[in-house]
Amino acid sequence: MPATTMEQLVSLCKRRGFIFQNADIYGGLQGVYDYGPLGVELKNNLKAAWWRAMVYERDDVEGLDAAILTNQKVLRYSGHEDTFSDPMVDCKKCKGRFRADHINGKCPNCGSTDLTEPRPFNLMFKTAIGPVDDGSSFGYLRPETAQAIFTQFKNVVDSTSRKLPFGIAQIGKSFRNEITPRNFIFRVREFEQAELEFFVEPGEDEKWHEIWKENRIQWWVDQGLKRERINIYTTPKDDLAHYAKACYDIEYQFPHGMEELEGIANRTDYDLGNHTKAQEEMNLTSHCHPNPDSTQKLCIMNDKNQWVVPFVVEPSMGVDRGVLAVMTEAYTEEDLGEGNSRIVLKLKKHLAPIKVAVIPLKKNNEQIMNKCHEIKQNLLKLGIGRVALENTGNIGKAYRRHDEIGTPLCITVDFETIEQSPESVTIRDRDTMEQHRVNVADLPNYLREYFL
Ligand code: GLY
Repeated sequence: MPATTMEQLVSLCKRRGFIFQNADIYGGLQGVYDYGPLGVELKNNLKAAWWRAMVYERDDVEGLDAAILTNQKVLRYSGHEDTFSDPMVDCKKCKGRFRADHINGKCPNCGSTDLTEPRPFNLMFKTAIGPVDDGSSFGYLRPETAQAIFTQFKNVVDSTSRKLPFGIAQIGKSFRNEITPRNFIFRVREFEQAELEFFVEPGEDEKWHEIWKENRIQWWVDQGLKRERINIYTTPKDDLAHYAKACYDIEYQFPHGMEELEGIANRTDYDLGNHTKAQEEMNLTSHCHPNPDSTQKLCIMNDKNQWVVPFVVEPSMGVDRGVLAVMTEAYTEEDLGEGNSRIVLKLKKHLAPIKVAVIPLKKNNEQIMNKCHEIKQNLLKLGIGRVALENTGNIGKAYRRHDEIGTPLCITVDFETIEQSPESVTIRDRDTMEQHRVNVADLPNYLREYFL
């Protein structure tokens, strides 16, 4: 059974070094988290799985890694300066500030109903650029990675000779000044997105919206989420983001409820239309704001030799929410009988932070330790990911620790390894806890077959 409370995950994350509160020693910075030694591995593995599926395994997607600091004009013409806001109310009694749509006309802090009218509160972080902080030169920390994909559209097309349909993928940090960050790493102020902007012929957008919905559900299932714990929510027209014509949310059964994991939006020609030069020549379908500042026509020639502004379908995943989802699903408390139990993180092996732990049966035996070092160095060369030498605690504790952090295989070097020929070790499987002996010479092939 997956995790049912956030406390189970928060506790495991801190205890084992997946995720820590940022600035913990100073009481924390609200809505900001740091990934520890194991969290960084898990997050990198999830991002690598996304990049592999979205870029390497396809023939119609290019990558991009754009800057976080964003020119004000980008977010003016994207519509974010005007519309990227939440409605806020202030409590006149306790002076608390809350999202109007998160409370029922009553202050969640003191219970007062004496609240101000809702007012829009822009979610973007503004920052001074350059040495003078007098408000004349500022930029934003990007609120989504997508905008740089739109503003670099022409450069990517010109440098790759792409034809429709094709996409540009990007993974990176985004920032939103959430008023009420909550639910651990679910709603945070600094987070990571993995976004694909997939450009299609106008009129083919609805077909591609369906294709991407199915594609992305399958990808989440491949990361270990059970299909029955995933829900597809069609956003009502009134709740759509300012740029979207339609949106599916892939929702997951998190410990705090069924919530959005990824949005798949049909952004039409809204973004390229707003950022392009010569809007009047472009047959735009979206209502775009006049843009006298752009220096490039953001269009592409289609297979009928017509210049078109493509429509965009955008699968946009929250990486941190992804980490939370795969941890939720993998978290298992097992009753082993006779009063014994264990926590085991049944992560898919490609996501596991540590692939193999090499464990000495006796850590103060020099021969055993030397053999452990030698095996670890040899296994590293396979390129399967992190191989760790585990020399803390006794063997029972080592197995428990690696169960809890999701290590699929533990290799134990014992007296038989060093005393008998051919050399052999035991391999223990995380999920079944079964052990069997394998010759050291056969380990590379065994692990290659298991992991690659
Ligand atoms: N690019 C979509 C989002 O940030 O929500």
